Amino acid sequence: MSDAYKKAYEREKISRQSAEILLDEKTREVQANIDMIQQQFNDLRQQKKESDYLLSVARLSQNDLGLASIIKQYLLSTIGFLEAKVGRYTYLKDSVLVIGKALGVIGDLPKFSDAFYKTLYQQENRSTLKLSDIGCEEVNLVMDPLDIDRVAFIPIKCFGKTSTVCEIFLPKNTKFNAEMLEQCLVAGYQIGGMVEKSLNSKKLEMSYQEIKASNETIKKTQNQLVQSEKMASLGQLAAGVAHEINNPIGFVMSNVGTLKEYSEVLEGYVKLANSLSESIDSEDARALKEIDDDEDVAVMVNDIKSIVSDCSDGLKRVKDIVANLKSFARSDEEKNEPFNLNECIEKTLKVVWNELKYNVTLNRHFDNKIALVKGHEGQVGQVIMNMLVNAGQAMESPGEITLSTSQKNEWVILSIRDTGKGISKEVMDKIFDPFFTTKEVNEGTGLGLSISYGIIEKHGGNIQVNSKESEGTEFIITLPQSV
Ligand SMILES: Nc1ncnc2c1ncn2[C@@H]1O[C@H](COP(=O)(O)OP(=O)(O)OP(=O)(O)O)[C@@H](O)[C@H]1O
Ligand SMILES: [Mg+2]
Repeated sequence: MSDAYKKAYEREKISRQSAEILLDEKTREVQANIDMIQQQFNDLRQQKKESDYLLSVARLSQNDLGLASIIKQYLLSTIGFLEAKVGRYTYLKDSVLVIGKALGVIGDLPKFSDAFYKTLYQQENRSTLKLSDIGCEEVNLVMDPLDIDRVAFIPIKCFGKTSTVCEIFLPKNTKFNAEMLEQCLVAGYQIGGMVEKSLNSKKLEMSYQEIKASNETIKKTQNQLVQSEKMASLGQLAAGVAHEINNPIGFVMSNVGTLKEYSEVLEGYVKLANSLSESIDSEDARALKEIDDDEDVAVMVNDIKSIVSDCSDGLKRVKDIVANLKSFARSDEEKNEPFNLNECIEKTLKVVWNELKYNVTLNRHFDNKIALVKGHEGQVGQVIMNMLVNAGQAMESPGEITLSTSQKNEWVILSIRDTGKGISKEVMDKIFDPFFTTKEVNEGTGLGLSISYGIIEKHGGNIQVNSKESEGTEFIITLPQSV
């Protein structure tokens, strides 16, 4: 090898060595960068896991879940977050410990000792405990094959007290650190807030229901008061009118009776006078015959008879109405006595028919075998009257009212169906409210149905309504039969 070549070779060797050193250095730098990026990536992944976990817990408050579901969901999220195999929660119900079902790879898990739970619920700060330190053989036996050696206890505090503790069972190889436990505790704190909120809204709901119930009672009492007041004043009015009409009717009836007797005598007398005037030829007989020819006295007497009979019929009807008014007036003092609903309807119709007859055709489908109803006949009559008047007022043109009675088990049922204008959905919600009316100021007080409702309820029955606008309405009154 020539000297020149040797020198060149040496130079080449030195520069190659320094290039190799440089390459080594660069490789180490790149490796360090890769390690750093890998570390950052792992950190980011962990951060994402944490924020996913916290987000899933925070979302629980947005759904309308019950208490048990909130805690169960929290437990499942925490088991996932800590990569645990199994978990469960325990809680205090009226100071008694309740052990929840285990969630995860096993469903059945023995409990720790009562003494352990006692300290667990009293202790303020808790973290992870080794199973061997807790020293519960039954639990250890289950956990050993699963390679689980630690439990994280996460308390959920409600109104300042630990109300629930979640137990998360961790396997030996779990990548678990204090920071993660801290996240679980923060989430547990949030859950406590949700539980408090849910309990508060439950309490709120309960007091709302209580207020609603007492409002209903007040409304019912108000209805009854209004009803008895209206009954009392209507009763007084009816009694007064009945009394006033009764006297004149009495003497007019007695006079009409006398007139009837007189007209019969008069008829015989006229017949006899006529035949006498035919058979006798005298001045007076001719004058008598002349009067009869001019005025047709026999026909006149006949007319008098039928007029008197018509008056007598009319008076009888007036007398019936007065009698019904009187029985209606007495309804307040009435005792609870069995009565026949069909008869009660007939009596009511007599009072109210006058108001309806011009516009209404009445259909009766009465079941004659219905049992007697126990209660105040006058009051039930008042209900029927209210409904008949309402039905009549709902007719804008002539229409029909169909009254049907029937028996179903121990109940007697009356349906009052009309072909009136019907009731809209908005109005339907209010028809039983006292003072609700769709009628003109002087036409309706809006008390009819609220009073009716109170009366039927007092009788142990109920009222149902079916209606279709511009087709008609049906009120169904159900009353208990008398035993
Ligand atoms: N058969 C019916 N058809 C259509 N609407 C009815 C019928 N019955 C009741 N209503 C509706 O229910 C409302 C309340 O009836 P309710 O009998 O309580 O009072 P009112 O008839 O208006 O007045 P009041 O009975 O005191 O004279 C009525 O104003 C009416 O709008
Ligand atoms: Mg009415």
